[in-house]
Amino acid sequence: MEVALNNNHKFLSKIATNDGHGENSPYFDGWKAYDANPYHPQNNPSGVIQMGLAENQLCFDLIEKWIKNHPEASICAPQRGFDFKEIALFQDYHGLPQFRSAIANFMSRVRGSRVKFDPNRIVMSGGATGAHETVAFCLANRGEAFLVPTPYYPGFDRDLKWRTGVELIPVVCESANKFKVTLESLEDAYNKAKQSNIKVKGLLITNPSNPLGTFFDKETLKTLAAFTNEKNIHLICDEIYAGTVTNGNDFVSIAEIIEEFPTICDRSLIHIVYSLSKDMGFPGFRVGIIYSYNDTVVNIARKMSSFGLVSTQTQHMVASMLSDNDFVDNFIYESRTRLAHRHDMFTRELAQVGIGSLESNAGLFFWMDLRRFLKEPTFEAEMTFWRSIINEIKLNVSPGSSFHCHEPGWFRVCFANMDDATVMVAIERIKSFVLETRMLEMKTKAMAKTKKQCWQNNLQLKLSSRRLEDIMSPHSPLNSPMLRAQN
Ligand SMILES: Cc1ncc(COP(=O)(O)O)c(C=O)c1O
Repeated sequence: MEVALNNNHKFLSKIATNDGHGENSPYFDGWKAYDANPYHPQNNPSGVIQMGLAENQLCFDLIEKWIKNHPEASICAPQRGFDFKEIALFQDYHGLPQFRSAIANFMSRVRGSRVKFDPNRIVMSGGATGAHETVAFCLANRGEAFLVPTPYYPGFDRDLKWRTGVELIPVVCESANKFKVTLESLEDAYNKAKQSNIKVKGLLITNPSNPLGTFFDKETLKTLAAFTNEKNIHLICDEIYAGTVTNGNDFVSIAEIIEEFPTICDRSLIHIVYSLSKDMGFPGFRVGIIYSYNDTVVNIARKMSSFGLVSTQTQHMVASMLSDNDFVDNFIYESRTRLAHRHDMFTRELAQVGIGSLESNAGLFFWMDLRRFLKEPTFEAEMTFWRSIINEIKLNVSPGSSFHCHEPGWFRVCFANMDDATVMVAIERIKSFVLETRMLEMKTKAMAKTKKQCWQNNLQLKLSSRRLEDIMSPHSPLNSPMLRAQN
């Protein structure tokens, strides 16, 4: 397949033959290393553990139980409560009304019911992946750009850029202030784009952040809304991790900001991207949502959604499940509790061996600080170290450079796509690596010390014999008049 593609490049489009998918990045290389040698507790205990996949598998028991208790929601169950033809025949791209209501209800409950969503503004798409591309098509022309704070989800380079021809301009964030987005960094990125004659059409934020696992406080969100309003550009908020915030009450959605501070910005510039891939752990269902406060964007995105509709069966199932409020509330609570437990256990264990991470309380990952393990503070050294993590420790964690991080030595570790036993194996592997490294460091230091000692002893020995010779010699420099004068 690869060979055929390469041979026929000249007959294909630029999009088909460019590298825009990003499949050749280390982010995907890690997945390939895992695919070639996947860990299995019995069949392949020395295989690679996949920690590069932001999946939420911690609450599947709750979902399976609900499905068993609600056979009417499934197309396969004999007790189904609907006509097969309804599901099989062509659907309207507006989506089932009950699906849109259930999604609006779920989005609100995930945000503590502090804000309501209008089902008429819910536009479906093939996951958040499809939603981002649709939004990019709606808001920007080829060659125009969105600002994106770093580090950011590597898939954005594919989703927003590849087929649209839109550019992404990094807003540099630094560990010195916990990777917070500042007005200065935004202005800086905006001005650089302007100097390069690139028209900025919007700012894309991920709240909570992938890969940082942190979320924006109210003041920062207000600053971002005011900034985009002042520049008259769009603000796209990817909130697909909203339900993973371990203390849900602390999370602030952009939807709350524009309700609470209606004059802060023109709400027709605000667009939310959402999906059930993370909060519910359903990436396979491909349920993505665009929620725009701009009527024209809603209409156009809905027409474009013809390219990525959610199947009617999935809509039906999701509508039944997410309109069951008792289930939803319990699920959100349980999921947050289990994620918090897993996150805290993992980071605590690593802290015991001196591995730190950015303080965080959201997402399906944490941002691990391995800067002190790099031979030198460069991205080459980060890649060398990352290769040894994959090949020797046999863990697929993702290097910071693939998230456009500006400081080498940070790695994203996903923790919710495996069971407790696998987590323990991963932790043990990291711990023994750290201990081995320490032993090696101590050994090297001890050897260096011994070498230095030997050298000093030799020198002393040489000097003392020289001194003896000198004293014995009639031409001794010690007898020089200059030396005598100095002493
Ligand atoms: C921030 C962010 N946005 C979008 C996506 C894509 O999600 P989906 O599976 O719904 O397409 C991901 C997936 O990891 C993500 O982390």
